[in-house]
Amino acid sequence: MDTITAISQRRSIRKFLPKEIDNKTIEKILEAGILAPSAKNTQPWKFVVITNKNKEGMLNALKSGIEIEKSGNGLYKGEIAKSFINGAEYTLKIMEEAPITIFVINTGNKILFNRSYGEVFTEMANVQSIGASIQNILLASGEYGIGSLWICDIFIAYKELCKWLNTDQQLVAAISLGYPDENPPPRPRKGMGELVEWR
Ligand SMILES: Cc1cc2nc3c(=O)[nH]c(=O)nc-3n(C[C@H](O)[C@H](O)[C@H](O)COP(=O)(O)O)c2cc1C
Repeated sequence: MDTITAISQRRSIRKFLPKEIDNKTIEKILEAGILAPSAKNTQPWKFVVITNKNKEGMLNALKSGIEIEKSGNGLYKGEIAKSFINGAEYTLKIMEEAPITIFVINTGNKILFNRSYGEVFTEMANVQSIGASIQNILLASGEYGIGSLWICDIFIAYKELCKWLNTDQQLVAAISLGYPDENPPPRPRKGMGELVEWR
């Protein structure tokens, strides 16, 4: 498949068949992630692959984060919490169904909430590099007939998941992978006129 076709045919997939993906295919997909560009070629990523038989702990961590958020003692506050809870509950179901979840960790930044400009800029560059890697993973998955979903709703259980993953580095995203059980149409995009300014 040529690159433009791969980019335009990619969709977020939220329904998966109960069919395992073999490890070799997952490695090939991750190889595409590793080939992404990165700031100063730092390659600030690490991938933790959770297979079906080990996903119980992941789901429990996510459920516990959602429960804490519902109790009002979570990371989000007020009205915004409600929309994040709804999104996270929906995403939890998708992650229950997907045979593979990959957690993407930023090995260049610790979880720090008070940072200097230098630390923020490094973090921005690292997260961009990781975004490129994740996009490569999504596109490569499509090449092997595998559906993918880029997930940040996991942030609701940030502390619980980092503890379960046993990392003090920054958790950036999760990716669910599986053979698709849906064929969604393209989602709307804003027009060029709104997005691009020529000077
Ligand atoms: C950084 C990022 C985080 C996302 N997090 C979630 C998520 O937690 N749950 C979910 O269902 N979709 C998530 N998505 C998928 C978007 O909703 C999706 O990309 C968007 O609606 C456009 O649809 P498309 O990917 O099919 O083009 C995320 C996408 C990105 C890039």
